[in-house]
Amino acid sequence: MKKFVLFIFLFQSLGIIRAQNGTVAAAHPIAVDIVEKVFAKGGNAYDAAVAAHFTLAVVLPRAGNIGGGGFAVIHTSKGEAATLDFREIAPLSATKDMFIKNNDDQTVSSLTSKSASGVPGSVKGMWNLYLRYGSRKVSWSDLLTPAILLADTGFFITEKLSQELNSNSSNFTMQNPSGCGPFFKNTSWKSGTRLVQTVLARTLEGIRDFGPNYFYSGPIALEFKKQGYFSLADLASYRVYWREPLMGNYQGWEVITMPPPSSGGLALLQFLWGSERKSNTMQEIQGANSYHDFTELARIIYEDRARYLGDPDYMNIALDELLDSNYLNDRFSVINPEKAGKSPDLLATKSEESMETTHFSILDKEGNAVSITTTLNASYGSKRWISGFFMNNKMDDFSISPGVPNQFGLIGFEANAIAPGKRMLSSMTPTILVKGDKKVVLGTPGGSTIITNVFQVIRRFIKFKEPLQQAVNAKKIHAQAWPNTIFLEEGSYNKKVLRQLKRKGHKIEFKTQIGRFQAVSNTESAADILRTGDSSGRVIHY
Ligand code: DON
Repeated sequence: MKKFVLFIFLFQSLGIIRAQNGTVAAAHPIAVDIVEKVFAKGGNAYDAAVAAHFTLAVVLPRAGNIGGGGFAVIHTSKGEAATLDFREIAPLSATKDMFIKNNDDQTVSSLTSKSASGVPGSVKGMWNLYLRYGSRKVSWSDLLTPAILLADTGFFITEKLSQELNSNSSNFTMQNPSGCGPFFKNTSWKSGTRLVQTVLARTLEGIRDFGPNYFYSGPIALEFKKQGYFSLADLASYRVYWREPLMGNYQGWEVITMPPPSSGGLALLQFLWGSERKSNTMQEIQGANSYHDFTELARIIYEDRARYLGDPDYMNIALDELLDSNYLNDRFSVINPEKAGKSPDLLATKSEESMETTHFSILDKEGNAVSITTTLNASYGSKRWISGFFMNNKMDDFSISPGVPNQFGLIGFEANAIAPGKRMLSSMTPTILVKGDKKVVLGTPGGSTIITNVFQVIRRFIKFKEPLQQAVNAKKIHAQAWPNTIFLEEGSYNKKVLRQLKRKGHKIEFKTQIGRFQAVSNTESAADILRTGDSSGRVIHY
């Protein structure tokens, strides 16, 4: 026995058990380089996440941001689990019907107006992540400096970014009559053009040198007020929350995920439970029976989302009841294995999910893990540019009017109605899986499809034992109650599956792409390279 104890001790002290690699997956290779540099300086995963977040605000302006918000899920080397909510809030002047006039005649746009923006949370989010979990081996200043240099001296844009900038150029001009810095350009962008963002560099410098006050009560706050976005009180009242994570167990793995104001974690746990319920017909990975059962689960889960979920600080959310096995058994008992069900009658529309959020997953060699999904909502948010950065259009994530779908076709009711200071419901589902020493960190953009995509990757990886990269690459499907449709990514079906689904009464639509996943484990990085030119992952030896 003594020998055994000694043996374990030796392994630990030699670092053989603990000392592994760091791993990272993100939506841009420069963010991956920055993570590697932070690790080389002795920083941990949380330091690296702060540096990556600010870097993405420079190199991935469609989604990386300081004008938006997001969520972080954390699991430390000591086994501590936490989540950080740096979601935007509605300004204090916001009203329930601010986007509605004369019933459904929408006069102020929840997508493109100044009022479309919630008060951003990213700067305070990163500051709080740094304060609570940063290693102190790399200073706040050193974590922001690489992003400032990239903004100041520029970087060479990728083919993907050049296409986006060209296709958005008229939007940028329309939304910013008095200019939007380098994004206003008479000639077209080409891959390899240098993008210099001097105004953004100055803003980031202020945040580096004066901390979040520069943004929430200093020059940026004054600029927001001057340009008519927010009052000083809106900015001063913004705060982030450390929230208890939602925890589940799936086939021996601990699932650590995001609670409300994201709907993602709850829906994910409902999916995982439902797919294992006694009467499930999801024994195969792909195939008509699996797709049918998945769609029927989605019909119920997205209805729960619409009826019961919103900002937990404005309502009581019965999370325990919504995850109770009797409740779920009862809810799912209506599923007929042969026939498509019917979503409750509500105004339904086509969902237009974009892929323009961004997710990054980081695990350091000590076993500190962080999963961050952050967004401006739509691509380049409202397309409005202020002090060097684009603003979010997150107000569209509220239910603008009961039963009226948002840009993702998502419907909500009172629970997600607009109120001053309130957080809008999200689908973002940053998640960490833990089993013994093993960790998997994962997430994706994709609006309403985030939840179903995360569910499918976890199921493939854990239940069907697919390698992580294979699970990420696999072609996905999606359903969300409204519209009453199954969305199939190209490659996820064959003619027989289509025939069988139609026979069961399903309406089918095809998608060229669902999500842009970024996952890592202790040994592997699995970026969604197939679905985008820019995603990048790396195993880092340090
Ligand atoms: O929080 C949400 O659920 C949305 N604002 C996320 C938007 C999104 O994922 C857009 N595209 N990927």
